[in-house]
Amino acid sequence: MRVIIYLFIFFVIIQHAYSQETVIRFSHVVSENSPKGKAAVFFKNLVEEKSNGKIKVYIYPRGILFDDITVVNALKNNLVQMAAPSFSKLSFFVSDFQVFDIPFLFSDIYTIHRAYNGKVGELLKKKAFKKGIRVLAFWDNGFKHITNNGKEIRLPEDMRGLRFRTMGSNILNYQFMVAGAKPYVKAFSNLKNLMEEGVLDGQENTFSNIYYQKLYTVQDYLTVSKHGYLGYAVIVSEKFWNSLSQDFRDIILDAMQKATLYEYNLAIKDNEYSYEMIKLEAKNMKIITLSDNLISKWKSFYKNYENTFKSVISGEILEEIGNL
Ligand code: LMR
Repeated sequence: MRVIIYLFIFFVIIQHAYSQETVIRFSHVVSENSPKGKAAVFFKNLVEEKSNGKIKVYIYPRGILFDDITVVNALKNNLVQMAAPSFSKLSFFVSDFQVFDIPFLFSDIYTIHRAYNGKVGELLKKKAFKKGIRVLAFWDNGFKHITNNGKEIRLPEDMRGLRFRTMGSNILNYQFMVAGAKPYVKAFSNLKNLMEEGVLDGQENTFSNIYYQKLYTVQDYLTVSKHGYLGYAVIVSEKFWNSLSQDFRDIILDAMQKATLYEYNLAIKDNEYSYEMIKLEAKNMKIITLSDNLISKWKSFYKNYENTFKSVISGEILEEIGNL
């Protein structure tokens, strides 16, 4: 892996020295087929067309260059120019992004969009800006569910003793800890292997990530819990943004706006499609759908910890969420 990164850095330096084009390297960790993967390609095509090829966008999917946490530093060092990490992973740089990780805080995507497009989004953008990160858009994936080996999970307490992969925010780690499970922060690209090798028992993710990453082939159970939300911030570094002409910025912003609408639509459809495909293809995984009664038990379990979850989020963000 290290050799690939060094070769890549060498290639980037040479290209910077000789290229007349503006280059955007867009790094992400999911497959080309996922909503984020497809929206990245949509964005690339639009930008290249509108700039008559003067802006070139290269996409590096599946974490082939950087995982979502290291990519932010790579972005600041101009090794890549664009990334779309999950909010949870961005919380390493701006803690408030993990507000979306609070279990059962949001129950539908429309409230989340109101948060993105309103004051909450504005505040998050300002906080990122202070860290040298410009948020160009918020993208959806969808609601997360639990997959695991070992035993059926019908209540949070059933996770006791199991080892769960998390994306790493304090809130996600705590979500597993309070249920007696052990959280381990791991990169998305390693998940399938870690499950296969028995290093981890379970993880949480959206249907589309479970499907495209083929996690259903290495997990015995899927609990359809819809307990949390997975979304992304599409980011560039302020330094890179400031180096662009106004014309190029306009092209990028316009393409991003169109790619975002495309992505929202795709994310909903793709999660529905992925769930159907999982049901068809996951011959060895039992799917557990929870009754309303069980879901309300999950909600009241996590309600007990709401104040602790909220203690790592700033008051102004919580207040705006309260107003949605
Ligand atoms: C994960 O790490 O599970 C997700 O952030 C992957 C992604 O980008 O959807």
